Formats: sequence, structure tokens, C-alpha cells
Amino acid sequence: MQTFRSDLIAGLSASPKSLSPKWFYDAEGSRLFEQITQLDEYYPTRQEKALLRQTIPLWLDLFGTDAVLVELGSGASAKTRILLDAISDLAAYVPLDISETALEAAARALRRDYPQLDIRPVSGDFENLPNLPDDLPKGRRIGFFPGSTIGNLDHQAAVELLIASRRMLGSDSLFILGIDLVKDRETLLAAYDDRQGVTSAFNMNLLHRANRELGTDFDTDAFRHRAVWNDKEARIEMHLESLKDQNIQLDGQKFLFQAGETLHTENSHKFDRARVQALAEASGWTLREMRISAAPCVALALLQPTE
Ligand code: AVJ
Repeated sequence: MQTFRSDLIAGLSASPKSLSPKWFYDAEGSRLFEQITQLDEYYPTRQEKALLRQTIPLWLDLFGTDAVLVELGSGASAKTRILLDAISDLAAYVPLDISETALEAAARALRRDYPQLDIRPVSGDFENLPNLPDDLPKGRRIGFFPGSTIGNLDHQAAVELLIASRRMLGSDSLFILGIDLVKDRETLLAAYDDRQGVTSAFNMNLLHRANRELGTDFDTDAFRHRAVWNDKEARIEMHLESLKDQNIQLDGQKFLFQAGETLHTENSHKFDRARVQALAEASGWTLREMRISAAPCVALALLQPTE
């Protein structure tokens, strides 16, 4: 099993050094991410919520009656309420998340506010999708993967996730995919390097978390947050840059950072219509509609199974 410890050892041994962004989200990291979503500079959450409110009512006929909404990586299910409010005849909601505590808390709150709705949490990793419960209502399955979370994955991993989703949801399904779009680099960089330093604290929390949980000795004053726009790969990269030559100890092993060397902590890919279409077509889906928000623009793609 991949743990924070085994992943960090592998990432520090690699060249260039890297770590999966999934380790951002301990309690402190989740709190900081929540704070990021409220920043002026971080437009994706705000823009996607507004776009969902506009778009979902236009898609209700396609969803049909008694649909089953399946959300990947539901977390606190914050955006879900926009869909639950708009799709008044929804038959069931299946939140899918790795964190059982997040799932249970979210399900409890939703059951209170939507007492008529059949809420069926399923715990699982979206890199390794579980099967849906076999006694769900029979309506159309609608996958929901908001927040441009798919942007964390490289092309191959994104294709694998969409293939697995297609298999899980069946041939009569639809898939609502939220993605961030390529735009001017100033806007992109500001969203990942805000003036208040919340994104910096979110990134640096990885080092604090490693010191807390794994007993590493990262000198957190000797690293800094960096956000970089990689134009060739169309992605924002987050890094933790070492400000000096230094050794890090983990389980009796030493890892050398040279001054200026980085630990690459996240990719956040940005899309355009052609890339969404390519991604869909490589994974058994057809791009049925793509709705774009006001600037700074994000998009909602509606995918349907090919054939
Ligand atoms: C949760 C992966 C969509 O990539 O924008 C926010 C995470 N990282 N600020 C993103 C994030 C830095 C976020 N996702």
C-alpha cells in the first residue's frame, strides 16, 4: 500500500524530486484549501459554482427522471447542493471519497437537508474505482467530477479514470466534468501565488506534515513556495524550493537538496476545447456540450458514452 511515508521516500529518491498532491489534505491542509477557495485570486471555485447554477437547469431534460448522481472525490459535497437543488426529481446521490470520515459527515448533513433523497456513500479511491451498489434506483447514472481535480492527473491517468468511470456508470450514463481553462499567465499565477500567502502555507504544510507524522527534519525556513506556468504542458506547477544546500533525514536515510532544487508537489493542468475532446475520445466518451463561464473562465463539459 502507498503511504505518505513510502511515497515521500520514493519522491525524495527520484530525480527531479516529486510528491503526489493527494498528501496535501490532512486536517490542516483541508482547512487551508477551503481558505484558498475564498481568495480573490483563486477564481476556479467561484466561477464553477456560478456556472453550475446557470448550466444544470439547461441539462435537466438530458438527465431524465429518477437519475442517480455519482460524485467522484466528493469531500464536503459543497458544490453538490447546487445540483441537488436543481435536479428536484433525483432518485439517489452516491458520494464517493477516500475519507470515510468526510463521507459520513457530508452524508449526515445532506440527509438532514434532503430527507427525501436516497444517499448512498461509497468509500473508495478514484484512482481505483469501486463498483456501485447493485440495488440503486434504475434511472440514468450521472457522473460528477467538479473542481478541475482531473487537472491534477497527467493525460494517461486522466484517460484511465474516465475509462473506469465509463465502466462504473454504464452505457446509458452522462458525465459532468469541471475543468479550468488556459488563460493569461498573470491570472493563472496569481491564483496559485496569492498575496496573503495562503497557497504558500498550503504547499509548505506538506513539510510541516512530514515533520509531524514521519519525523523528518525539514527546516521549513529553508524552503519557499513557488508556482510556475509550464506553457509546453499547459499546466501550473507547484514546487517547494530549497534555499540552500541541505540534507533531510527520513528513517535513517539522508536526502540532499541543493540550493535551488525543488520538490515538485502539484500539477494543475489547464484545458481548451480540443484537449477536452481528445481526453474524452481517448476514453470512450463523446463531448456532448461544453459551457464556459465569464472571465476568468472555467468550463463544464457534458460527456456521453461513445455509441
Ligand atoms: C483541488 C486540484 C483543483 O489545482 O487548483 C489550489 C488544488 N492547489 N491551489 C487546483 C490547488 C493550489 C486545486 N485542485
